[in-house]
Amino acid sequence: MNQAVKISPSILTADFGHLAEVIAALEEGGADAVHLDVMDGVFVPNISFGLPIVKAVRALTSLPLDVHLMIERADAFVEAFAEAGADSITVHVEACRHLHRTIQQIGAAGCRAGVALNPATGLDSVREVIPFVDLVLVMSVNPGYGGQRFIETTTNRIRRVRRMQQEMNPICDLQVDGGIYTFNVDDVVRAGANNIVVGSAVINSEGTPAQNIHALRDAIRAHTEIPYA
Ligand code: DX5
Ligand code: ZN
Repeated sequence: MNQAVKISPSILTADFGHLAEVIAALEEGGADAVHLDVMDGVFVPNISFGLPIVKAVRALTSLPLDVHLMIERADAFVEAFAEAGADSITVHVEACRHLHRTIQQIGAAGCRAGVALNPATGLDSVREVIPFVDLVLVMSVNPGYGGQRFIETTTNRIRRVRRMQQEMNPICDLQVDGGIYTFNVDDVVRAGANNIVVGSAVINSEGTPAQNIHALRDAIRAHTEIPYA
């Protein structure tokens, strides 16, 4: 069982009519955080949820809330999501005209700051901010929906981002999000990820969310030598 790797379940595909039960099941399964996918229907072709859901989840759990903003005007909402209960806020480099300032804004709001890259975005677009973030999110699907297939070219991108982090900010989390299941999670970890977002694998698979989280941890082979730990 590998505890060094954080499992952050996404509730995007959860039954929102039973949110309290879903969150309790994630806690029971030992989730390290709740990943909240906020979508505006502009930056991504889907609308999910916003501040009311973040507030509701905040009231349900003391787990860290990992808010993933897939929205055009992220900087206009940083303080509101911090106020709603976010512990970390991740913005997309593709949506931020002044990324360095937005990252400062997230820190000033008392949250950990993350920057996300879509699958076609060059890694150098985040190189200058790596020293200032707590997390880099390498998207392994095109954002907008749960249940998509892992984009295989992501594995090499993870390795390259990990090398940048080793050079500039070794304690920075490397998070990967989308299409991760028990059959590929170990490859993702071996490539350099230490924070795994899983939606369908936990919420919409056989077994309870707790069983599915345990299955993911078991699938992450106990590595004697994880290259980045
Ligand atoms: C997609 C979201 C992901 C997604 C992961 O835009 O960022 O967090 O919910 O879902 P699965 O694990 O089902 O691919
Ligand atoms: Zn996400």
